[in-house]
Amino acid sequence: MTRFEHRNGELHAEDVPVSRIAEEVGTPCYVYSLAALRDHYRAYKKGFAGTRHLICYSVKANSNLAVLRALANEGSGFDVVSGGELARVIRAGGDPGQTVFSGVGKRPDEIRAAIEAGILMFNVESPAELDRINAVALELGKRAPVALRINPDVDPKTHPYISTGLKTAKFGIPIERALEDYLRARGMEGIEIVGADCHIGSQLTSSDPFVEAVGRMTRLIDRLDEAGIPIRFLDMGGGLGIVYDDEKPPSHTEYARALAGALEGRENLTLLIEPGRSIAGNAGILLTEVLYHKGNDEKNFVVVDAAMNDLARPSLYGSFHGVVPVRQGCDEIQADVVGPICETGDFIARDRPVPAAASGDLIAVLSAGAYGFTMASNYNTRPRGAEVLVDGVRYDVVRRRETVDQLLELESVPAGLER
Ligand code: LLP
Repeated sequence: MTRFEHRNGELHAEDVPVSRIAEEVGTPCYVYSLAALRDHYRAYKKGFAGTRHLICYSVKANSNLAVLRALANEGSGFDVVSGGELARVIRAGGDPGQTVFSGVGKRPDEIRAAIEAGILMFNVESPAELDRINAVALELGKRAPVALRINPDVDPKTHPYISTGLKTAKFGIPIERALEDYLRARGMEGIEIVGADCHIGSQLTSSDPFVEAVGRMTRLIDRLDEAGIPIRFLDMGGGLGIVYDDEKPPSHTEYARALAGALEGRENLTLLIEPGRSIAGNAGILLTEVLYHKGNDEKNFVVVDAAMNDLARPSLYGSFHGVVPVRQGCDEIQADVVGPICETGDFIARDRPVPAAASGDLIAVLSAGAYGFTMASNYNTRPRGAEVLVDGVRYDVVRRRETVDQLLELESVPAGLER
């Protein structure tokens, strides 16, 4: 089900016509649906009914405090990859005790903050990081709960930049040497082994690679058990894909059932997942206004006021995002939808039929709720747009549009250059 639909020819986010938001808040602007966030979270819960589990929403997908609060209110845990994300979870009222800390390059100050906050576990990416976490925990007189992030060497068959579970990726500890590293961890005073973790990639459109990874992970867990290292949490990471174009991923519920099925009979394990995109992606759109049309013998361009700094995915990964007119009824033309940024890589859609919307009309870029705003930058000194959360007939600005003054505030000119 989508919470963004045309009604009487007008695109609505839940019960709010998005043109009203654009008028009052301006463009470019991200619009999120609270109901959609809840739908996705609850669809996972449904599939996991009867299985011990914890959903740890992956904050990197969309880290707005309102989104985090909405999910915390549903009972969600969180997956963070920086001290900054942990601070967001805490600020949003999320429970650090249900928060896992992933990422290949955790700094000592971040490790300290996470131990002090009482996180559920660190997903440890390397032997060197394990030593560091041990040392920081000892300094604090505490034991840090850890899982080792295992690289199960499963091919997720997704975009190479977001495949993480292959041997060639920078992530995790090769599964063959996991036992050795667990044994070493067991001897560390500052470490408490609680879990095993993996994350094989993102935007996967089949459950099969996940099920295969569960098999490899549970075989490892059995070996650890035999070695006297009991594992309580199996974290399977994130990665369920969404529909951007014509993909056919399993539903949240189907995927959850497939994972739960692969774990049947293992009552001592609590299954964790770290979904990001599948919670936030189709809960958000990017609203933008058409500035100009231009064309030459070869091509047509629809120039809009959103650019690669607002939504990096098309430029960075060649990703497809649906583009629809906010007011239905205009023709389509074969064109590129491009932003104002000074490089050819700045496009939102390329060489496809797009709305022939006129200057001043609004268009919506779909499936933009995940890795949209969080990857936005200030390239070309473009203030980042506003974020809005819709709930039924109401909406709230949950992040104000940045101003140029705010962007310049942190900069200064050294005395030697003073005039
Ligand atoms: N857990 C870990 C350890 C991860 O590295 C990621 C994503 C997730 C969970 C969440 O994965 P998801 O459920 O969202 O697939 N910027 C890229 C995606 C990068 C994903 C990085 N890791 C994009 O826009 O497609």
